[in-house]
Amino acid sequence: MEHTQPGYITMLIIDGKKVSLDLKNELKASVDTCKAITGKVPGLTLIIVGDDQASQAYVRNKANTCKEIGMISSVIEMPAETTQKDLLETIHALNNDPAVHGILVQQPLPEQIDEFAVTLAIDPSKDVDGFHPENLGRLVMGHLDKCFISCTPYGILELLGRCNIETSGRHCVVVGRSNIVGKPMANLMLQKLEAANCTVTICHSATRNIAFHTRQADILIAAIGKAGFITADMVKPGAVVIDVGMNRIEDPSAKSGSRLVGDVDYEGVSGVASAMTPVPGGVGPMTIAMLMKNTLQSFQRINGL
Ligand code: GUN
Repeated sequence: MEHTQPGYITMLIIDGKKVSLDLKNELKASVDTCKAITGKVPGLTLIIVGDDQASQAYVRNKANTCKEIGMISSVIEMPAETTQKDLLETIHALNNDPAVHGILVQQPLPEQIDEFAVTLAIDPSKDVDGFHPENLGRLVMGHLDKCFISCTPYGILELLGRCNIETSGRHCVVVGRSNIVGKPMANLMLQKLEAANCTVTICHSATRNIAFHTRQADILIAAIGKAGFITADMVKPGAVVIDVGMNRIEDPSAKSGSRLVGDVDYEGVSGVASAMTPVPGGVGPMTIAMLMKNTLQSFQRINGL
């Protein structure tokens, strides 16, 4: 997990792949116990509209992970020209299906469909993405017992906790204000929780002198969507840097002609940070593991376990 930097600084590479494997093994054991107690199996339904290749790969990955840990998954593929009405009807049927414990509609959706209307249509008790305003509201208010937390922020919290990163009272700077990552992430780090309890700053595209703010961070979370945006001069020496970015860039030397990079300039920042997540193999695997955790939790709540 560690490697040594020139100048005798040891930087921790936060290995999300390994942590997610540990977590999936624990979840598999819990799924087995749930099956033994109830005679029922936790089930996740994934809906994909259209034929976006990246989305299809993500959905396949999520379905395969369900299988790995002993849960049932089903994938509903709908054509790109699907109407909002048809999608909402499909969601309503799943809301009423007792064998379905989690519903996920893969984003982005085609432009004729209002993403917010879709988010509102999913029963909050099956919203394992944690996107419904009821779940986001519960998170903001600190009522986490009946809430689903959005999988990427939840995965980062789990990663910080399992890697014993000290967070309480420290300054966390989140760069990015999306509803899926930035906003829930900042609110989660603010909560009085282990691996959180931070002073929090949110930066975004209109922030002036962004480097001034990022340099204040003890924990810097980059969720911008721009390859290599965070450079070494933007990072306080010794900071913990979490890279949420998944940017595909051209690389003629790669077999596929492209490769995946984060929002952080890994080479430069690894000479300044005390710990950081790589891309791939950092935050990404944790997001899927937390989707599994949320689905299992939904099953447990529905079955009174
Ligand atoms: N598209 C990219 N990430 C996600 C996610 O976490 N959930 C859903 N539903 N769509 C996504």
